[in-house]
Amino acid sequence: MLRQDFASWMGTIQERVESALDRLLPPADLIPQSLHESMRYSVLGGGKRVRPLLAFAAGEAVHAEAGRIERVACAVECIHAYSLVHDDLPCMDDDVLRRGKPTVHVQFGEATALLAGDSLQALAFQLITDVPLADRAEEQIEMVRLLAHACGSRGMAGGQAIDLDAVGKQLELPQLEHMHVHKTGALIRASVMLGAHCGAGTTQQLDAMDHYAKAVGLAFQVVDDILDCEAPTATLGKTAGKDAAQGKPTYVSLMGLQCARDFAQELRDRAVAALKPLGDDGRRLAELADFIVLRKF
Ligand code: IPE
Ligand code: IPE
Ligand code: MG
Ligand code: MG
Ligand code: MG
Repeated sequence: MLRQDFASWMGTIQERVESALDRLLPPADLIPQSLHESMRYSVLGGGKRVRPLLAFAAGEAVHAEAGRIERVACAVECIHAYSLVHDDLPCMDDDVLRRGKPTVHVQFGEATALLAGDSLQALAFQLITDVPLADRAEEQIEMVRLLAHACGSRGMAGGQAIDLDAVGKQLELPQLEHMHVHKTGALIRASVMLGAHCGAGTTQQLDAMDHYAKAVGLAFQVVDDILDCEAPTATLGKTAGKDAAQGKPTYVSLMGLQCARDFAQELRDRAVAALKPLGDDGRRLAELADFIVLRKF
């Protein structure tokens, strides 16, 4: 069978995820309308969908059923959207632009933005428990545990706490890595592993994908730091130059632009090398590692 090229594969998955999210999110006319509207506003019609793409690439590598992958892909995207809504709040990064539109709190008010984030997080867990996603219930419970761990104080929320605490401070490299691995890496790792758990991979395949995901998760935030200082607002769809303006320690502030670029490339190489045990089945994941490092927004 002829394999789709990467760009058209990506387009197919992005469309599939968009329509699944549209179907799975509560309708905008359901009471409380402004809450449901704000949830839909934050999730639909924007974003690269990197986490769903990673879930699909990992799931496809172990020949998982697409319907199952679609569920976990939507769940991780809901968690991601929630994290962005809260990240943009005045008490956090205080951003007014996201995905080229006013942020959720600007559009709907802070209280609604807070509740939209809360509701999206709950919806994500509902999505991965409503339907069977694994052959054994124990495996599905493991998937729920994995996502919970990635979101909580020992994952993304913990990373965000460290991020806020680090404003105005100069971190050492290991501390910066710790922060990035948690605030961004944890959910990316969970996206890969949830996709992988939808199929029947061997321990060796799962370990390979986990190693890949750790490297790619860190690479993702290193590139986000680089883009914040070198890409224009119009391309990013979010206000450029915010990290420096807010005194956030980043890979760029610590190592300089060129070293940060080199480090992202090194992480990409590490990620791709980890995929070796997957053979040709790891190709999409490798292509995604390139996409993550070479992206312009
Ligand atoms: C931005 O994530 C926030 C980070 C975790 C760095 P993305 O760059 O994936 O944002 P969207 O989903 O494409 O808008
Ligand atoms: C966001 O990191 C990480 C999470 C949302 C968990 P950033 O604060 O760097 O993301 P952007 O740059 O606002 O998208
Ligand atoms: Mg932030
Ligand atoms: Mg931010
Ligand atoms: Mg950023």
